[in-house]
Amino acid sequence: MKLMLKAVTIASAIIATPALAEHWTLSPEGSHLAYGTIKKDTVGEVNSFTNLSGHVSPDGKAEIEIDLSSVETNIDIRNERMIEHVFRNAGTATLTAQIDMDEVKALAVGQTAVVDVEAALSLIGTDVEFDTEMFVLRVSEKSVMVSTNDMVFLSTEDAGVNAGVDKLMELASLPGITRTVPITARLFFNMDEQKADAGTAAPVEVAAVAAVDGDIKAGKKVYRKCKACHQIKEGKNGVGPSLYGIVGASAAQADGFKYSDALKSSGIVWDVETLTTFLADPKGTLPGNKMQFAGLKKDEDITNVIAYLQSESEG
Ligand code: HEC
Repeated sequence: MKLMLKAVTIASAIIATPALAEHWTLSPEGSHLAYGTIKKDTVGEVNSFTNLSGHVSPDGKAEIEIDLSSVETNIDIRNERMIEHVFRNAGTATLTAQIDMDEVKALAVGQTAVVDVEAALSLIGTDVEFDTEMFVLRVSEKSVMVSTNDMVFLSTEDAGVNAGVDKLMELASLPGITRTVPITARLFFNMDEQKADAGTAAPVEVAAVAAVDGDIKAGKKVYRKCKACHQIKEGKNGVGPSLYGIVGASAAQADGFKYSDALKSSGIVWDVETLTTFLADPKGTLPGNKMQFAGLKKDEDITNVIAYLQSESEG
């Protein structure tokens, strides 16, 4: 007698699974950081930095590295003087900022917002803190543009570069260079999917789980191979984690089980397809996971054991 379990479908179930934590990486292309100087009261000039890098972590902490040696003043000798006297060959400056990611995430593609940002610039051992507004545009699902909403003014004294500016005046025989510097920035960030991990829990919509059309009774026999390490009771872990409710769940969710990093950071949702691939070759599909099991060779066995796991979890 064959007991057929047909079409066990979790259609578009909303299951509490970890949200894909979003990491954003600064894209140098299109990003631009510039500041202005005014000498002799009347001559305004724009300098910029051509080499920027950085990222924003899921909690909204932004860190942007400014390569000070990439300063572009449009005159070589002036670039050298800036690097040597003002930036004192410091290498990089770091701009850190706290961004409210909920506000950014709430933006639909094409929408904009003005967000408050608390930032700090760390330049040659001096930290300058400032609050400012940034203008955010969600360019696409996976990219945002952030720019200064107004100008940000930085005093050369606060930034600890007054002596360097004195030196520039002397070298260029200039009567004056203003001691407050307007700064504008336009930064592009791209969402980095590889780094998405099981960070903060939030409900996400899981795609429909394909129908399981397997033989539960036959699956119970196949399950004997799993029994040495697994139970299907909720909260009962052995060598392996409890497999209760595994079909449709996100990987590495069993309470109290110490998973490998490989499984934890896999981002896998266990549906028929991912379980089938995994159970056929656990080591090969997910290198670094710690399930010491060679795999099931027959497709039929896999389908059946999935049907069994599904039926047992239904209580
Ligand atoms: C020798 C012990 C062992 C055997 C046998 C074994 N497993 Fe595992 N299994 C583990 C361990 C350990 C893990 C955790 C892996 C990790 O953290 O990398 C695991 C993880 C899993 C996961 C992922 C669970 C999760 O919470 O994401 C599934 C699914 C799974 N096993 C199914 C099976 C099935 C089905 C069988 C039998 C066909 C089986 N295992 C046989 C030890 C075993």
